[in-house]
Amino acid sequence: MKIFGVDIGGSGIKGAPVDLERGDLAEERFKVLTPHPATPDGVADGVKQVVEHFEGACDRVGITFPGVVTGGSTIRTAANVDKSWIDVDARALLSEKLGGLPVTVLNDADAAGVAEMQFGAGRGRKGTVLLLTFGTGIGSALFSDGVLVPNTELGHLELDGHDAERRASTKAKEDHDLTWEHWARRVQKYLEHVEMLFSPELFVIGGGVSRKAHKFLPLIEGIKAEIVPAELQNNAGIVGAAMTASRL
Ligand code: BGC
Repeated sequence: MKIFGVDIGGSGIKGAPVDLERGDLAEERFKVLTPHPATPDGVADGVKQVVEHFEGACDRVGITFPGVVTGGSTIRTAANVDKSWIDVDARALLSEKLGGLPVTVLNDADAAGVAEMQFGAGRGRKGTVLLLTFGTGIGSALFSDGVLVPNTELGHLELDGHDAERRASTKAKEDHDLTWEHWARRVQKYLEHVEMLFSPELFVIGGGVSRKAHKFLPLIEGIKAEIVPAELQNNAGIVGAAMTASRL
């Protein structure tokens, strides 16, 4: 069976066929820019372009969404995409756009977490594991003994009187031209807050910035939990989405 994963992000929509044995992309991924405004129809067209780029058979598509997705289908929040997504039945919309192909939809950080727990930095890890993705927003995936607690939205905890992702996402770093040192202090403060609430054994740091982990993880001090970069880096969402579709 040929399964694709597609990751809808605030800046790009990227996807590829996934090799589920290896937990890796089967072909080089293809990316289109997220339309602005990122409306349901515009984004769904982007997903279609990504899938159609890979000519040939596709049996199912797993799709991530950068917001809360309940029941594998209904969008509940849309912090970094157009608000008209709220209450949309994303599974029905995307399946229809893809000519009736079966699709699954889940939160982007949850998808990345599922992949990291199976194939990456969280492999075999028991206890409380928290994957945090730093990108346009901050996403979170909470695991208890390997089982996902879906739709935790820890990027929206309050930090210094602000929504945490407005202070500590990589977008905040870029928007305010913060140095790695300055941004790492904000990330550290954020991790201290999350650690106080959840006492995880392990933090896995994902999102595009995980490629540059060496620039900021060594600057973070005083966190009791182990902190490691995601191993699948920015492909984790694509792989996790396809894994979820394979379980349909
Ligand atoms: C959203 C989360 C999402 C994260 C990363 C946040 O703004 O609320 O659902 O996982 O961004 O995209």
